[in-house]
Amino acid sequence: MCGIVGYLGSGSALDIVLEGLEQLEYRGYDSSGLTIKTSEGFKRVRAEGSLDHLKQKIEKLEGPLGIGHIRWATHGTASLENAHPHKVGKIQLVHNGIIENSEELKTRFKYNYQSQTDTEVIASVISDFYSRTGDFFQSVFETTKLLEGAFAFLAVCEDEAHSIVGARKGPPLVVGFGKEKEFFISSDLPSLVQKWTSRVAFLEDGELVHIQDGRCQFFSSDGSLIKKKIQTIQKEDQAKGKEDYAHYMLKEIFEQPHSSLRVLKAYTEKGQINFSSPLFQSAEKIFIVACGSSYYAGLYGKFVLESIVGIPVEVDLASEFQYKSLILKPKDIVLFISQSGETADTLSSFHQVKKRGVTCYALCNVRNSSLDREVDASFYLNAGLEVGVASTKAFTSTLVLLLLMALNKQKDHSLVSQLFDLPFLIDQVLSKSEQIKEQAVLFSKYKRFLYLGRGPHYPIALEGALKMKELAYIHAEGYPSGEMKHGPLALVDQEVLVIGLAMKDFYYSKNIMNLQEAKARGGFILTIGDQNHKSVADQHIEIPSCHPFLSPILEVVVLQLIAYHFACSLGHDVDHPRNLAKSVTVE
Ligand code: AGP
Repeated sequence: MCGIVGYLGSGSALDIVLEGLEQLEYRGYDSSGLTIKTSEGFKRVRAEGSLDHLKQKIEKLEGPLGIGHIRWATHGTASLENAHPHKVGKIQLVHNGIIENSEELKTRFKYNYQSQTDTEVIASVISDFYSRTGDFFQSVFETTKLLEGAFAFLAVCEDEAHSIVGARKGPPLVVGFGKEKEFFISSDLPSLVQKWTSRVAFLEDGELVHIQDGRCQFFSSDGSLIKKKIQTIQKEDQAKGKEDYAHYMLKEIFEQPHSSLRVLKAYTEKGQINFSSPLFQSAEKIFIVACGSSYYAGLYGKFVLESIVGIPVEVDLASEFQYKSLILKPKDIVLFISQSGETADTLSSFHQVKKRGVTCYALCNVRNSSLDREVDASFYLNAGLEVGVASTKAFTSTLVLLLLMALNKQKDHSLVSQLFDLPFLIDQVLSKSEQIKEQAVLFSKYKRFLYLGRGPHYPIALEGALKMKELAYIHAEGYPSGEMKHGPLALVDQEVLVIGLAMKDFYYSKNIMNLQEAKARGGFILTIGDQNHKSVADQHIEIPSCHPFLSPILEVVVLQLIAYHFACSLGHDVDHPRNLAKSVTVE
């Protein structure tokens, strides 16, 4: 999704807006732009492609006020005329979200639209009100009442040299308070706290902010002035650049021994699992709601929770959950898993459940994210800032956290000491990175990839396939091993690479049988496990034997490395995969 940033203060608005856009580049990178209030008026610069293209177009722009935008296309292609800021009349505007009634508004507010975006429509409506009233803030406020959908936008007016108005309904917007009369506004907290300030205030849905002449005022959805609490946020550990790794993603893959240890330490004490609250004490059913990789982690959570806790668990895709008839009982518990805490589908599902008064927990990585601030209790992944768009360390930390939550209920602490072997076991897997790189480079002759697993390994097969899709842009599919004979086996031929998760555990013999069926039909078989079954495997990646609940975590590290190395061999920008964004803040 898009990222927006604004600044008003005594510093260089250009430098700060550009730095802010760099921090937000993970949210989208198909075009970018900014406007700076200089002594000769507002100067707008936009560019297609990465942020570097924008920087190359900018000469010195000096001034105290600026807004900027980095885009992940929703309405209209990734082109220069669709890049933000959009300008209509004296209004310029940057926006993150989707305006669902933009076409209807276009018929009411006729204008010679230059772009295909819904954002230009917002600017046009504000401009229409402004041309009739001359009141910039009021024009923005009146416009917000007409917008349907999700938006977080910043607007400036060429008649007001020191004024920024922001509005939020859905995607996040955070105001940072710097030195004397210095204000920052951003789509997300880390971009503020990492660089400029730890004093922030969050806009809630429907609220507006008006920063003008050194003053910052907040307004509720009915336009009344409200007092906002300024919070002081502890700095998350900085993503200190890529250090000596080629990509953030590789750095974060290699951080997993540490990130898994951090989450283990956060929820254990003297060898005992220690959650402050009893978690599922009286729960009759647990729901897990999430998207993407977080959803796959939820499927693993279902397995361990039902196996250990014995409570029925239903796992739902947030993008589907919010539309179904919710059959919730007062004692049910809903876990929302979201690394960013800002995923629109997950937030929307949460708001549906919250209205029913059911206990809602979050498993998330970003403190003070929208989800974190609204649930009954949050359990943090402690993975540290995850910059790579393809989730790695946050995913494995989620698996560890779910396993701890399950074990906490049964007070089954015999496994805890084995849990603390996990960082060491992950390290052993990471030592195979070069071997995996050599193997992965050979995969280019295969056109389709199948990932097979059973039980707690099936969610890992799904996650491995997603990593391959996200990074190598190859069609890859995760499948329950036992399902292959019910149709998908027809897919298998010499062009298919089959990756089988085949630990020597309860599922082993049946998994080998399924892999033999695929091999017999020409598939190239790569197995990952603690036993090399040479009659089946054309290639094998050995991982250490360990508890059946821990082996899926080791397997996914291998699959992360396979996807990473293969994508690099194809020359892809693995930190900025095409068409993707780190935090999907639109539905
Ligand atoms: C992960 O590799 C993906 N980029 C994506 O599926 C992600 O897991 C999904 O968008 C959910 O994000 P969240 O955990 O921040 O809610």
